[in-house]
Amino acid sequence: MGGQFAGGDLRPPFAGLLGQPPEKLIINLPSPCYVIDEEQLKKNGELLGRLAEDTGCKVLLAQKAFSNFNLYPVLAPYLAGTEASGLYEARLGFEEMPKKEVHVFCAAYREDEFEELLSYADHIVFNSPGQLLKFGPAAKERGKSLGLRINPEHSTQEGHAIYDPCAPGSRLGATRAQLDDALSHHPQLFKLLDGLHFHTLCEQDSDALLSTLKAVESGFGDLLPRMQWLNLGGGHHITRPGYDMDTLKQCIHYAQDKWNVQVYLEPGEAWALNAGYLVTRVLDVIRNGDTHLAILDVSAACHMPDVLEMPYRPPLYGSGEPGEKPHTYRLGGPTCLAGDIIGDYSFNKPLQAGDLLLFGDMAIYTTCKNNTFNGMPLPDIYAMEKPGKFKRLTHFGYENFKRRLGGRQV
Ligand SMILES: Cc1ncc(COP(=O)(O)O)c(C=O)c1O
Repeated sequence: MGGQFAGGDLRPPFAGLLGQPPEKLIINLPSPCYVIDEEQLKKNGELLGRLAEDTGCKVLLAQKAFSNFNLYPVLAPYLAGTEASGLYEARLGFEEMPKKEVHVFCAAYREDEFEELLSYADHIVFNSPGQLLKFGPAAKERGKSLGLRINPEHSTQEGHAIYDPCAPGSRLGATRAQLDDALSHHPQLFKLLDGLHFHTLCEQDSDALLSTLKAVESGFGDLLPRMQWLNLGGGHHITRPGYDMDTLKQCIHYAQDKWNVQVYLEPGEAWALNAGYLVTRVLDVIRNGDTHLAILDVSAACHMPDVLEMPYRPPLYGSGEPGEKPHTYRLGGPTCLAGDIIGDYSFNKPLQAGDLLLFGDMAIYTTCKNNTFNGMPLPDIYAMEKPGKFKRLTHFGYENFKRRLGGRQV
């Protein structure tokens, strides 16, 4: 980065570098690679641990966002358990976060997996009264705590329908009408329930939780005093600077006092927010008319799929908004996809092939979501114990690509 980023970048995604220039810190790492910042993880853990201590709520790690299990011991002291969305995450939480609770929510369970799931899970949350009817009695017999995901029909994220489980026609969670209809035919269902679960937020502050809790109260408040627990789902951006912790605590206390329930939260992002980096190098620089482009050795489509899916513009060390610094580039990946664009960024100096760049906030929804489209290698994953001290957690090669596509007939 030779002087490109002089002056450092102290924004939250890069706070873990303590102002040290990345080109010095990461010079010996291969490109591309993911780096998970243990000290930042621990800071997030401490904050969430304090929340649990102050309020009596239990905080779970939603593994869909972050499941680099080598680092589970860093978070273990602060969490009550893990949340899984499928069989393998449930097993991972069971194996790698020993002696902690295992909670599972899946939009629909499979008969051929359910028995194994029961061997890992403590709490099982069903998405519909039909699933509760089908699987609830067997799970109850095995001593599991059962819940139903509800849909409070209260959208708090306009323009983000892909992340809004309360959007019209949503398949996620039972509305009060759906629940009442099921109970009118199967009143015994209610006895199976130990708790209710809702998940409606995405990267939001606690004002959205407060208004959602009011909607839950007006739709389901009569049922809650008969429950043992209430799970407020994920999407709480608790570890982001400026998050309104007081309102979150008020919501937790309100639910506990009013309905005498154990409150659970199951954030994913918040545990690993701003605790990871993606190291990359410029492979080529191109100009098309007025547009300056750089092709990197990482791909949005393969290595940070939420950039396209969400979509969002990931933070890049030392860069500015387009036009803010003298040289603006559109950064893209090496794949065939025309839309494999990471974003437009500006720089102090022109980019050149070989330049090292560093994306921030890359611990979440990356390593657990990446893919090998176009035959792109998966980047290795490193942990940074402290600035400059790295250990490699895993390495990928051709076999990882090939084995997912076939093999000798079995
Ligand atoms: C049911 C459920 N719980 C928890 C989470 C974690 O959300 P986040 O990583 O935004 O905190 C999600 C995310 O989609 C979810 O669907």
